[in-house]
Amino acid sequence: MPKPNCDILIIGSGAAGLIAALALADKNFNVLVITKDAVTESSSAYAQGGIAVSLLPTDSPKKHIQDTLKVGLGLCEPKAVEFFINKITDSIQKLSAWGIPFSGYKEGKVAEEFLGHEAAHSERRILKVDSDLSGRMLMKTLWEKACRHSKISISQGTFLIELLKDSSTGAIQGGIFQDINNSIFPIYASATILATGGLSSLYLKSTNPAVSVGDGIACAYRAGAIIRDLEFIQFHPTALDYKHHFLLSEALRGEGAILVNALGERFMQKYAPESLELSSRAVVSQAVWQEIQENKSVYLDIRHLGLERIKKTFNGIYSFCKNAGFDLSTDLIPITPAAHYTIGGIKTDLDGKTNLNNLWAIGEVASTGLHGADRLASNSLLECIVSGFQVAENINQEINLSQEFSDQDLNLPTEQANKDKIDLIYSKEQSHKLKIKMWELASFNRTEKGLNNLLDYISSLEVDLLDLSFNPFFNQMRNQVLASKLLVQSALQRPYSLGSHQMAENLNLSNELSEGLIHTILK
Ligand code: FAD
Ligand code: SIN
Repeated sequence: MPKPNCDILIIGSGAAGLIAALALADKNFNVLVITKDAVTESSSAYAQGGIAVSLLPTDSPKKHIQDTLKVGLGLCEPKAVEFFINKITDSIQKLSAWGIPFSGYKEGKVAEEFLGHEAAHSERRILKVDSDLSGRMLMKTLWEKACRHSKISISQGTFLIELLKDSSTGAIQGGIFQDINNSIFPIYASATILATGGLSSLYLKSTNPAVSVGDGIACAYRAGAIIRDLEFIQFHPTALDYKHHFLLSEALRGEGAILVNALGERFMQKYAPESLELSSRAVVSQAVWQEIQENKSVYLDIRHLGLERIKKTFNGIYSFCKNAGFDLSTDLIPITPAAHYTIGGIKTDLDGKTNLNNLWAIGEVASTGLHGADRLASNSLLECIVSGFQVAENINQEINLSQEFSDQDLNLPTEQANKDKIDLIYSKEQSHKLKIKMWELASFNRTEKGLNNLLDYISSLEVDLLDLSFNPFFNQMRNQVLASKLLVQSALQRPYSLGSHQMAENLNLSNELSEGLIHTILK
C-alpha cells in the first residue's frame, strides 16, 4: 500500500500555487510544490498591470462588481463575482503582512497617484507592486518566503504527466511526474491542487511564457474533471510585434496611449467612438486584428507622455522595448494582438473544489465563475490571491490525513518500448505547426469550417500520442494536442459570437448584457 509523500501536493509555482503553499504551510501541513521549469517561470511573474482592488474613497466593491459583470456579458456567476471581489481587500492585507511591498499601500489605503487605470474599470483601482513589474516583485517575495519555509519543499524541472486516480473510489491520489533526468515516478498526497495556469501558448502569438500550454487542463480532463468555457480565450490587443510577443500593458492606454494604423489614423474611432482605446479587450483586439488585415500594421503611440513620465511609470516596458530597438518616448511601437488569458478551465466551486474527490484547482487553470465571456483587466491576479487563501481554509477543514491509498497499475513506460517511437525533431516541427494552425484558425478568424478542419488535423496528430513516453517533450506535446482539441471543440459548441469568442461570419462586439447564457461543458 503506497504511503503519501506529502500532505498537500501543489502543481504550479505561480501566484495561486505559492500563496496556497504558504497558507497551508502556515497551518502546519507538509507541502510539496512541483513545477515544470524554474520556480520563477510562470505567467504570474510577467504580470505588469497589477491587482484590481477598490481602494479609493470614491470606489467600492459594488462598483468593481458592476464593472466585472458588465465585461462578462451575462456569463459571470454573480455569486462568484461577489465572493472574490468582497474578499480581495482582506487578502491584500494578508499579503502586505507577509511583506509584499505594494506601491504606496499603507494600512488599507493608497493615494490615487499609485493606482493604475485599465480599460472598462470605472475607477482607478490597479494596485501595483513595483510600477510595471508587479508580477516579478510579487513573485520574488513569494518565492523567497516559500523557499525559506520549513514545511514547504519545491521540486523544479518536474513535469506532471498524469493525475493518479484511485480506480475503485475515483479519488485523486497525487500524480505521475517526470524529472530532468527523465525518471518517471508517482507522488502520493492526501490533497492535490492544480495551479498550472492557462493555455495561451497553444497559439503562435501569445503573451504567456512557454510553460502555459494547458497541461493541467489536459491531465484533469483525462482524469474525468469537468472542463468548461474553453472557447473564451482573451486576446490582448497590444503585444509587441517582434520576436517575443512582449506585453505592452493596458495601463499604457490607461495613461493616454492611442492606437494608429499604417495610415496614421486613430482607428478606434470607427469601432468604439466613445470608449476608444479603453473599450473592452475583445473590442480593441478585434479592431487591431481587422486593421492589420486591411492596412498591414498597427502602432501604439505614447509619445505624449514624455521620457521622464514614461520611465517613471513604465520603466520595465520602456527598458524591454529599448533593448528591442523601440523607444516609447520617440517611436510608434508596432503591435499585434496575442493570446493572453484562458477564461475557461477546470470547473470548481468557490473553495477550488473540482468534481473529483481530493482534487482542487486554483488560479488561471480553474473556471470559478468570476470571469464571464470576457475578463476585466487585473481580475486574474485577484482570483489567484483569493483562491490561494480560500483553498487553504477548505483543505484544512476537509483533508483526511489518514486515508488509505490503493495500489494502482501505473502503466509507466519502459525506455526500451519508447526507443523507436519518438522522432523528436519531427515532433517539435509538429508542435510548432499546430501553434500556427491554432493562430490561423482558432483566434480571430474562427469559422465552423476552419474549426472542423483544425479538429481533423488535431485528430491526425493524436494517433502517435496515446501513451506515456520517456521523452518529456513528447509528454508535453500530448497535453498540447489534447488542450488544443478541447479548445476547438468548445468553440464549435458555441456557434454564435460572444465576448472573447468571436465567429468571423457573425461578429458580435456589442457590450449588451445577455440573459440565459449557458456554459460550454466538456466531460
Ligand atoms: P501561472 O502563474 O501561469 O503558473 C503556472 C505554473 O504551473 C507555472 O509554474 C508552470 O511552470 C507550472 N506548470 C504548468 N504545467 C505544469 C506541469 N505539467 N507540471 C508541473 N508544473 C506545471 N493578471 C492580472 O490580474 N494583472 C496583470 O497585470 C496581469 N498581467 C499579465 C501580463 C502577462 C504578460 C501575462 C502573461 C499575464 C498577465 N495577467 C495579469 C494574467 C495573470 O498573470 C495570470 O492569470 C496569473 O498570474 C496566473 O497565475 P497562476 O498561478 O494560475 O498560473
Ligand atoms: C495588462 O497589464 O494589460 C494585463 C492586465 C491583465 O491581463 O489583467
